[in-house]
Order: sequence, then structure tokens, then C-alpha cells
Amino acid sequence: MNTDCGRTTVLVLVLLDLTCKGDSVKQTEGEVVATAGESLTLRCTYETISVTPTLIWYKLEENSFPQYILKQQTLTTYKALDFDSSRFDANLNKTNKSFNLKIQDLRLSDSAVYYCALQPTVTGNTRTLPSRQG
Ligand SMILES: *[C@@H]1O[C@H](CO)[C@@H](O)[C@H](O)[C@H]1NC(C)=O
Ligand SMILES: *[C@@H]1O[C@H](CO)[C@@H](O)[C@H](O)[C@H]1NC(C)=O
Repeated sequence: MNTDCGRTTVLVLVLLDLTCKGDSVKQTEGEVVATAGESLTLRCTYETISVTPTLIWYKLEENSFPQYILKQQTLTTYKALDFDSSRFDANLNKTNKSFNLKIQDLRLSDSAVYYCALQPTVTGNTRTLPSRQG
């Protein structure tokens, strides 16, 4: 990416369609190019049988481990200390089953792959989930 009139472009990639055992998340953006200083919303919608799903956003940089940014379980949001919590925010909406990540004041260091995941819920008894066509 090049710079245009002194504006820095920030390239954000999100992964599409991760599915695991009947739970799935769908992210609708592919590649996003934004300008430093702008804000950006990365969309994620999910499907799960869990009534108390835990949703997580990760950042994946080249040659690095996925870094957890934040997660939300019912009404509580947990943010990773490594992230500037004032710039990253997400809200779980159970009505439209969304967990969109908003990044404010974009910086070049935000260039990465972002992915949304459902944390497998561990309940008292384990059972096999019916498989679904997706
Ligand atoms: C969740 O999404 C629905 C549909 O878009 C909206 O009406 C509702 O206000 C949202 N709830 C929250 C807490 O944002
Ligand atoms: C769901 O609701 C949230 C919060 O009201 C809203 O920002 C979002 O655009 C809605 N739809 C999707 C698909 O995320």
C-alpha cells in the first residue's frame, strides 16, 4: 500500500467463515483499506445453540501468535491489557447475533488480520451436537 497526500493507509484483513461443531461465526468484510485516524467497524455475526455464548476478537500479525483483544460473555466485556482499551470496543448483541469490533483512531500498527471466534462453552455434561448443513 502506498501513501496518498500524506495519509497513511491501514490494511485490515478479516478471515471469513470459521465453523466448528455447529457453532459458527461469519465475518462480512474481506480486505479493508482505511486511513490512519479513521474509525472502522469489523462485523461479525454468529450462530450457536449456547444461550450464554462467549465471543472473542483476536488480532493476528505476521509471524506472531494470535493476540486476544477482547471477549464478551453475557454482559461483561474483558479487554486484554496489551490493547489500548479506549480504541478497541465490541458489543455483543443477542438480538441480531452480532459482535462487531470497532477500532477508533486507526494506526499503522493496526494492520493485521482480525478474527472473531466463539469460545466453546464447557457445560456440566458433554453431548454430541447434531451436525448441520452450512
Ligand atoms: C441489537 O440489535 C437490534 C437490531 O439491530 C437493535 O434493535 C438493538 O437496539 C440492539 N441492542 C443493543 C444493546 O445494541
Ligand atoms: C446489529 O446490531 C448492532 C447494534 O445495534 C448494529 O451496530 C449492527 O449494525 C446490527 N447488524 C449487524 C449485522 O451487525
